[in-house]
Amino acid sequence: MSLHHGVSVSERQRQAPGLISYLGPADLEAQFRRDALEGLSAVHKSIPSKWFYDYTGSMLFDEITRLPEYYLTRSERQILSRRAATIVQLTRAEAMVELGCGLSEKTRVLLDAFRRRGNLKRFLPFDVDSEVLKMAATELLDRYPDLEVQGIVGDFERHLSAIDVPERSLVIFLGSTIGNLNPLQRNALLTELSGSLKPGDCLLLGVDLIKEVELIKAAYNDSAGISAAFNLNMLNVLNTRLGGNIDVDAFTHIARFNPQTEQMEMFLRSARPQRARLEAIDLDVEFARGEQIHTEISAKFRKQGIEAELRDASLEPRRWWTDKDQYFALSLSVRI
Ligand code: SAH
Ligand code: AVI
Repeated sequence: MSLHHGVSVSERQRQAPGLISYLGPADLEAQFRRDALEGLSAVHKSIPSKWFYDYTGSMLFDEITRLPEYYLTRSERQILSRRAATIVQLTRAEAMVELGCGLSEKTRVLLDAFRRRGNLKRFLPFDVDSEVLKMAATELLDRYPDLEVQGIVGDFERHLSAIDVPERSLVIFLGSTIGNLNPLQRNALLTELSGSLKPGDCLLLGVDLIKEVELIKAAYNDSAGISAAFNLNMLNVLNTRLGGNIDVDAFTHIARFNPQTEQMEMFLRSARPQRARLEAIDLDVEFARGEQIHTEISAKFRKQGIEAELRDASLEPRRWWTDKDQYFALSLSVRI
């Protein structure tokens, strides 16, 4: 990975020890405003899912990972625990980058294995939410005092080429967060990532697999209502950051499976007609009764499909590991 394109060093902002920002508060706000204006002015309203993750959104996601219905985190942790030593051995990484790290909780399984047997010197957690990143970096610096931890605030759809990793590296992208991107976005991300890796560098990618649809749907419609709160929090993000007056209580959470595209699709549906103003972007927005804002997709994968996507980006799949139920998979590929 190099620093040739992307954001210049002068634009970085040291925010806290070990934290570099490619996406300063002003950039972040400008991008959010553009996305909100475009998404809410469209005939079919939508907001990109990356904006779920303010502090509350990240904490709600953390709660989701512990829900009985949300098998993804448990299944992935099971694979990581079983394969961590092999991952250390196969990758021989000296630096590890984690895209969309959140609290980097499962990552500790890998970091522990690297500490036992490996030669890992540097860990670079990367996330769009600076709050969750600060929490993750602080905790990791505490737990792994010999590891250089350098958090990066950035958008993995825009800033991958700006990460500077001269060492032999392993990029991890866990949780099936890649499924929150559509096929074109996935191709763009994998191509950009691959272009900034050196031959021999590795990618460890977590993907949620196609399985019985009822199990998938339940993970996004939990009985405690946390998935609903997570989705509805997008409206709080809009109101808080844009001086808005959207009536959050008038919306309901919708999560359904689309069998054609094999993905979960999340929406916020307005139960009544309403008009709202978002002062900061000078936008008056109307919602008809039943009108929906599309907030997220969560694609579910098959081995052949995701491996073809990796190969398209010059990432050669080398290992495929699943949990005992075959709910989730970790793919290890190498940059050729
Ligand atoms: N990796 C963790 C967290 C997954 S939640 C796990 O497996 O449990 C998804 C994370 O990706 C959030 O922390 C969110 O802030 C981050 N994220 C979402 N879109 C992003 C983007 N475009 N760029 C960088 N981070 C992003
Ligand atoms: C982060 N991402 C992989 C989660 C998912 O399962 O798609 C986000 C999420 N959305 C609703 N629940 C969880």
